[in-house]
Amino acid sequence: MPRSIIAGIGMYVPKNVYTNKDLMQYMDTSDEWIVERTGIRERRFADRKGETTATMGIEAAKVAIERAGITPQDIDFIIFATLSPDYYFPGCGVLVQRALQMKEIGALDVRNQCSGFVYALSVGDQYIRTGTYKNILVIGSEKHSFGLDFSTRGRNVSVIFGDGAAAVVLQPTEDPNRGLLSTHLHSDGNDAEILAMFNPGTHANYWKEGLADFDEAPVGQMFMSHSMVEKAQLFPNMDGQAVFKKAVVKFPEVIMEALRTNNYQPSDLKLLVPHQANLRISQFVQHTLKLRDDQVYNNIQRYGNTTAASVPIALCEAWQEGKIQPGDLVCLAAFGSGFTWASALFKW
Ligand code: ACO
Repeated sequence: MPRSIIAGIGMYVPKNVYTNKDLMQYMDTSDEWIVERTGIRERRFADRKGETTATMGIEAAKVAIERAGITPQDIDFIIFATLSPDYYFPGCGVLVQRALQMKEIGALDVRNQCSGFVYALSVGDQYIRTGTYKNILVIGSEKHSFGLDFSTRGRNVSVIFGDGAAAVVLQPTEDPNRGLLSTHLHSDGNDAEILAMFNPGTHANYWKEGLADFDEAPVGQMFMSHSMVEKAQLFPNMDGQAVFKKAVVKFPEVIMEALRTNNYQPSDLKLLVPHQANLRISQFVQHTLKLRDDQVYNNIQRYGNTTAASVPIALCEAWQEGKIQPGDLVCLAAFGSGFTWASALFKW
């Protein structure tokens, strides 16, 4: 059975840099608070008009496709991971298919938030292993800047997130010393509301619990109402400490699951590329697994948390910096809203 290799990888981040100090014009915060709690120093925000989740994904895809030495017409399946799609529907995958004038191939959107890219990778891997497809485009892209509360009320969430995209092309290899060894996916819906954006949505049965106020909405207008805007119910909600506590347990667990499945231990890792949720979470994971600094890649300092885009952006930068060579053992790991968490172990 063939394994998947990453034949090409590319990234795209908007040129607009917003430092922590820049955010102080919108909310009561400080560089010290943000750096100490999250490690983030700056993030990129998309152009208000020209750049969308799909357009950033498309730019990243162009680079990945070129680096794979193929053309968009060679791609035979698209998987697009995002929580911030251009449209509520259809998904971003078809916008990529249209923009790059691809054949009438399948286009699948994955809605798994921070673990979206690793989930998407696992889906693509199954098609490669079964021989169904030969060139699969997997994209993670986010435009958070359009959906955050930049007032002091939303500062615990809005200082964390940034915009950007990255993409890979998966191809089959018969080389026994290379490829994606295994993927591991998990979820626990008991905490679904701890990190969530409730509206617009169809959760009318929850409204008495205060997630939304439909009192004045006539039938047919419950999906989105004036009061949702007035009461700031169209922004993400997060219990940061609860997320932190769960993340520092589940990250090491799912990384160890990937290593044990393939008879490796943490010291064998050339590089761990964790989802860039929070530098303190990454440091905690590094400490738990007794990894050296050079075994863990972090770039949250420059991009913030870009959810589905964060793992592939970090992977792309690590590869561009020469930190990953053919045959190296590389682990990707993510944890996020749902909760969902996942890992993928490569012989690069
Ligand atoms: N600037 C200044 N003060 C702030 C800010 C801010 N941006 N945000 C919150 N505060 C204040 C609060 O109002 C509070 O003030 P008070 O004590 O007067 O009430 C104080 O800082 C502490 O607030 P907490 O929310 O308790 O701060 P905490 O130490 O938990 O840090 C943080 C918040 C950074 C979100 C932390 O909980 C965390 O890292 N959680 C992990 C969640 C995470 O990483 N999420 C990323 C997205 S999910 C994912 O990708 C997995």
